[in-house]
Amino acid sequence: MPEDKYHKDFQFLSSDARLSFDEIVRTARIFVGLGVNKLRITGGEPLLRANLPDLIAELRGIEGIDDIALTTNGILLAQHAAALKAAGLDRVTVSLDALDEAVFRRMSGGRGSYQRVLEGIHEAEQSGLTPIKVNTVIKRGVNDHTVLDTVDHFRGSGVIVRFIEYMDVGTINHWQPAETVPAKELLQLINERWPLEPVARNYHGEVASRYVFADGQGEVGFITSVTEPFCGSCTRARLSSDGKLFTCLFAASGIDLREPLRSELTDEQLAELIGGVWRGRADRYSELRALNSAPADKVEMYYIGG
Ligand SMILES: C[S@@+](CC[C@H](N)C(=O)[O-])C[C@H]1O[C@@H](n2cnc3c(N)ncnc32)[C@H](O)[C@@H]1O
Repeated sequence: MPEDKYHKDFQFLSSDARLSFDEIVRTARIFVGLGVNKLRITGGEPLLRANLPDLIAELRGIEGIDDIALTTNGILLAQHAAALKAAGLDRVTVSLDALDEAVFRRMSGGRGSYQRVLEGIHEAEQSGLTPIKVNTVIKRGVNDHTVLDTVDHFRGSGVIVRFIEYMDVGTINHWQPAETVPAKELLQLINERWPLEPVARNYHGEVASRYVFADGQGEVGFITSVTEPFCGSCTRARLSSDGKLFTCLFAASGIDLREPLRSELTDEQLAELIGGVWRGRADRYSELRALNSAPADKVEMYYIGG
């Protein structure tokens, strides 16, 4: 979120514009009725939402959910980890782009510190929010020289690092293809230092290709949405904080569920509406990008959460 636009006087969404916890839980219950069994809380930064453990506890109470995860920048994680676990959160994914203060701050807009994120990871481990995954986005010329340090730090710790190809999500990052470091390049780099062996995905639709260290020191993953799109196996529906349903990370717009939720519609009617959107989806942005025919208009990452 560029600071010149989202400055301290910027009017963010009013609480009425955002879905309430009751509305989120009702929506989640309807999705579970349609076959969803895994939820991820993301953002924006989810740990900025007041009383988040209350929401987690209510979501935990929905029968049919096997897994509740949360993606966070880790800055507030140390103080919230225990309460999140107690409320029923299963695990966290923490974004951490470099274990180097200058590089970290360059990628975080000059805020936070990687030490604080490491403290958050430590607390999350202590609280049992495991297995912890670390998301590391690699941008050429910015943090590609820190890859081996990151692997070295987490190897053998039980934390799974996943390298994400820097993507053209939204428009304001002015993405250039040359900024993306293909996962194959990273794989080769890591493999030369610590030999890796490919392993099968844990489940259909898992976004990362997985590799284990040949010496038994854990695993790393690669998310290759630029060089090897996986639109065909994507099973994710995304819901924005103001109630828009997105069927693709790169969609230009979402389908409004907030007004239907606040109307007289029954759960069955809402399920019909959502099911119709899902059955009708035809998104395959990353595949179209590879064919140079992707649409230009896209929602920003901070709005849809990754
Ligand atoms: C948008 S954040 C939202 C959740 C939370 N605020 C966080 O920082 O983890 C979700 C993930 O998207 C990743 N991300 C952001 N912009 C990206 C881009 N252009 N390409 C690839 N991943 C990106 C972030 O690094 C983070 O791991």
